[in-house]
Amino acid sequence: MEAEQHPVVVLDFGAQYSKLIARRVRESRVFSLIVPYDTPLDALRRLEPGAIIFSGGPASVHAPGAPMPDPGVFELGVPILGICYGVQLFAHMLGGKVRRSDKREYGIAHLARAGAGPLFQSVQPQTQVWMSHGDAITDLPPGFEVLGTTENCPYAAIADPARKLYGVQFHPEVVHTPEGSAILANFLHGVCGLADRWTMGSFVEAEIERIRAQAGNRHVLCALSGGVDSSVTAVLIHRALGDQLTCVFVNNGLLRKGEPELVQRVFRDNFHIDLRYANAEDRFLAALAGVTEPEQKRKIIGNLFIEVFEEEARAIGDVEILAQGTLYPDVIESVSATGGPSVTIKSHHNVGGLPDKMHLELLEPLRELFKDEVRALGRELGLPEEIVGRHPFPGPGLGVRCVGAVTRERLDTLREADAIFIEEIKRAGLYHDIWQALVCLLPVRSVGVQGDERSYEEVCSLRAVTSEDAMTADWFRFPPEVLQRVANRICNEVRHINRVLYDITSKPPGTIEWE
Ligand code: XMP
Repeated sequence: MEAEQHPVVVLDFGAQYSKLIARRVRESRVFSLIVPYDTPLDALRRLEPGAIIFSGGPASVHAPGAPMPDPGVFELGVPILGICYGVQLFAHMLGGKVRRSDKREYGIAHLARAGAGPLFQSVQPQTQVWMSHGDAITDLPPGFEVLGTTENCPYAAIADPARKLYGVQFHPEVVHTPEGSAILANFLHGVCGLADRWTMGSFVEAEIERIRAQAGNRHVLCALSGGVDSSVTAVLIHRALGDQLTCVFVNNGLLRKGEPELVQRVFRDNFHIDLRYANAEDRFLAALAGVTEPEQKRKIIGNLFIEVFEEEARAIGDVEILAQGTLYPDVIESVSATGGPSVTIKSHHNVGGLPDKMHLELLEPLRELFKDEVRALGRELGLPEEIVGRHPFPGPGLGVRCVGAVTRERLDTLREADAIFIEEIKRAGLYHDIWQALVCLLPVRSVGVQGDERSYEEVCSLRAVTSEDAMTADWFRFPPEVLQRVANRICNEVRHINRVLYDITSKPPGTIEWE
């Protein structure tokens, strides 16, 4: 497929926006990949790019050790778009000049067009753009001309049309550049002549071929959690391999209300997937008895999951391949702007440790997709909205929302409260405005009065956040009557809760989950 053979390659110079650039390219229905800025020329050539985009980055081209691409990239004959730091590299490496500056130009500017050309085809002559830079170009390299200026930036858009080198000092990929997507699309289709052909339908066809080629007639095992990523992975592989796929669903007793039933109904009854259901509720509860420390809980749940999963795999027999719902953001080797290792805030539970331990080959059909693309793929494959549109749910489940001791009774209480919260959010039509909503049961008791009786029961905390990627989050502003309804219902309908709080901590400093 042509669109697949010629991806747009985003060279990442440490920009916070590299992933956004890659996504915008895909929104123009052209496939894109992100690679580190120092990818060797041969490796770049092997990707057969239809276009290259230099991302922005936090460095100055004059800084010692500033990230530079192999200069041979300009000789590949592939069109290049430089964004922010990326366009400054054109000037620095091709014979122009970049002025060092201590001051940053940050925020909205107005771009005035100079001259015609494909980059600004159908874009307004005066258009709003988003600037975020310190250094600026002062002398154009030979062969370049000016395409646009802003009040503070005489070289806001430049090009050497003969070599198909285009550059913009502003950020077309962010929403504050309203015509940015059109400008990117002009570069991809108008300048580079790339077809707008990359769709979920074409992805499914190509991926099914790839899955068949990798698996041959071997048996594939998939840990199905009921979350979006593992669900889409399972259905896609099932479409490719049919009965060569077996899924294992482990009930760890830490699931939401109705979840085991939902997963079995959707995958076994609707999709006819070979699904093994392992009810390990008692084992998880026994292992968690008396444990209150969050990291300890996470480790116990993660290790026991691997143990149970391995037992199931052994019972199935000749499995050689393990399927995983790894997504593109986990795969990209991002160039760290700060460098240095980051501290572990929480040990995440996923099946990452399984393949090494079990000596299985990995099959990761989503490894080139972003989360919203996985959702679109799930819809394309016919998965119901109750699966693809679902809020994220952590691997350790309610275990990290049952703050303090994890017991069957407290889990049942939490499950009821959680179900009410989600039901009321859906009823108010707010579910898709919220990244994630959850209830935590707190190990705190308070006095209440219910029906003239004194009560002394536990407290729960509601949390609902908006977020782009779970790295940062803000608390969701509910209409007060929704919170009121939720609090009333929880206190009336859930036996062991008599007080409801709303958590208004952003992330940072809070995390989304409490543990
Ligand atoms: P925190 O609490 O770190 O969570 O702000 C960020 C996002 O990650 C989810 N989360 C997990 N997801 N395994 C997962 O697959 C885990 O162990 C895990 N812990 C937290 C959390 O629900 C939120 O969406």
